Amino acid sequence: MDRRKALKTIVGSVAVVGIAGASVVQNAVAAKPKTRPEVKFDKKGKVYHDPLPYVALDPLEARDRAYNNKLIGDCQYGVFATIIEMLSEKIGEPYLSYPTTVTRVGAGGTVGWGGTCGALLGASELIYLVSPDPVPLIDDVFNFYMYTSLPDQRPKTANEDIVPSIADSILCHISISHWTEKSGAKAFSKTRSKRCAQLDAAITRRTVEVLNAQLSGNFKATSVIPAVVAECRACHDKGGEMENTRGKQDCLACHSGHDEVKPNIYDRIGKKI
Ligand code: HEC
Ligand code: HEC
Repeated sequence: MDRRKALKTIVGSVAVVGIAGASVVQNAVAAKPKTRPEVKFDKKGKVYHDPLPYVALDPLEARDRAYNNKLIGDCQYGVFATIIEMLSEKIGEPYLSYPTTVTRVGAGGTVGWGGTCGALLGASELIYLVSPDPVPLIDDVFNFYMYTSLPDQRPKTANEDIVPSIADSILCHISISHWTEKSGAKAFSKTRSKRCAQLDAAITRRTVEVLNAQLSGNFKATSVIPAVVAECRACHDKGGEMENTRGKQDCLACHSGHDEVKPNIYDRIGKKI
C-alpha cells in the first residue's frame, strides 16, 4: 500500500466511525432529530411577532371557568389555561399540547414576590400569543385592572359575594393591600383566595372581550391612562424634559407629586397628592 492509498483508507474509516458515533448520540437524544425553527426578523431587526390562530370565545364562559382554574392553579394559570383550553376545544393543535402548567409560576405576583398580578401575567402572555397587535389590548386590560372596582360580576361558579376594591396598581402587593384595607380580611385567608379568583374571572372575561373585538375589527380601548398620569409622563417619560423614568402605572399610587413643579395639579385631579 502506498502512502496516498493508506491515508485514504484511514480517513475513510475515521469518517465511518464519525458518522456511526454521531448517530448513536442522536438516537440517545431523540428518535427523530429535530431543529428549532429559524428565527425570523421584522423590519426593525427584532424577532418577528408571529401570533397563533384565535377564534371568538364566550367571555362569560371564560369568566366562569377561570374562577375554578384559579382555585386549582393560581392566578396566572387561571387566565392563561382557561383560554388555551377553550381554544383547544375549537381549534385543536397547537393548543391541545400547549403547555399551561408553567403558568403556576405567576402565583402571588411571581412565586409570592407581589410583583405584577399573576392574572395580568396570564392575560398579557395569552394576548401576545394570539393577537397580531397585542400592545393596545394589554394596555386596556392593565388599565381596566387598575382603575375598575373589582370584582364587578360574580361568576356562576362562585359561591359568595366579595367586597370590591380598586387596585390602583398592577402590582399584586398593592392590589391585595388595598383590598385587605377595604374588606378587613387577611391576605392569606380563604376569602382572599376567592377574591383573587373572582378578579381572575373578570380579567379573563375582559381578555376574551378585547380579543374578540380585535378579531372582528371593532376594538377601541375603553380603559385608558388617566389624564394626571399622562401629565406626569409628559415630563418624566420618553421625550419629556426629564425623561428619567418609564412606565404606564399610576404614579400617584407611590408618589405624592411635587408642589414646586406642578402647583396646580391638585385642582386638576381634585385630590391632594
Ligand atoms: C412640567 C413637568 C413636570 C410634570 C408635569 C411633573 N414633573 Fe415631576 N419633576 C419635574 C422636574 C423638573 C423635576 C426635578 C425637580 C427637582 O429636582 O427639583 C421633577 C421631579 C420629580 C420627582 C423626583 C423627586 C422630587 O420630588 O424632586 C418625582 C418623584 C416626580 N417628579 C414625580 C412626578 C409625578 C408623580 C408627577 C405627576 C403627578 C410629576 N412628577 C409631574 C417635572 C415635572
Ligand atoms: C410602584 C411604585 C411606583 C410607581 C407606580 C411609580 N414610581 Fe416612580 N419611583 C418609585 C420608587 C420606589 C422610586 C425610587 C425612589 C428613591 O429611590 O428615592 C421612584 C423614582 C422616581 C423618580 C425619581 C428618579 C430620579 O432620578 O430621582 C421619578 C421622577 C419617578 N419615580 C416618577 C414616576 C412617574 C412619573 C410615575 C408614573 C408614570 C412613577 N414614578 C410611578 C416608585 C414608583
